[in-house]
Amino acid sequence: MRKYIVGNWKMNGTSADLKEIEAIATMSTSYAVSVDSALCIPATLIDRATSRLPEFNLGGQDCHMNVSGAHTGCVSAVMLSDAGATLTLVGHSERRAGQNESDADIRGKATAAQVVGLKVIICVGETLEERDAGQALDIVLGQVEKSVPDNAASDWLSIAYEPVWAIGTGRIPDDSDVAEMHGAIREQLVGRFGADGNNISILYGGSMNGENAAMLLAIPNVDGGLIGGASLTAAKFEPILAAAAKSC
Ligand code: 13P
Repeated sequence: MRKYIVGNWKMNGTSADLKEIEAIATMSTSYAVSVDSALCIPATLIDRATSRLPEFNLGGQDCHMNVSGAHTGCVSAVMLSDAGATLTLVGHSERRAGQNESDADIRGKATAAQVVGLKVIICVGETLEERDAGQALDIVLGQVEKSVPDNAASDWLSIAYEPVWAIGTGRIPDDSDVAEMHGAIREQLVGRFGADGNNISILYGGSMNGENAAMLLAIPNVDGGLIGGASLTAAKFEPILAAAAKSC
């Protein structure tokens, strides 16, 4: 499977950063022969960034499950698509925790995005307390089961496993824990969706950077990465794409 490397800028970026988005897009095209890449940027920048970079995959970080209506402050999947986005994240742990999003919410958002033709990355992951209590597999597999819609297919859906305790902390799980989790997610996807479950990309996220990317991307069933801090500049993002290209 081609590796899929996606940056998540979170709540970072104003018009002054459009140049860096352009630099990332230009840099990414030199890896496009073997690596798929995308950048999920603040909704306020999507329209301007996609106007400048119509060939590069730019996405949102969340969407509402409804098309329109009385939802002050929210952005719908239709709006993302209208602004030129080709993908969106849903269910990031920072939204599950900060905005109290449930698996049912996330499933609704994923469906809303799929309906308008966006590719979707559903994020899952356990907290440190859950891992320490030996519940990581149960929690994550439960999130996958409940937040992935029944019509999931590899042409529009990817999963990102992001242990909450690895996000922004510089800590990453042991290889064996990543392999176990990705293998268990794969098994569940194949059990539910048949052979196409083998083609659904399962990304790893949480403190991935230029130094650890090659090791993480070599783990079975790690089909790419979802990268926060190290996606903010082309200089930091490039070694991850290079590692992905080498791992093909
Ligand atoms: P960091 O790469 O900064 O740890 O963030 C990971 C993440 O949350 C990507 O969605």
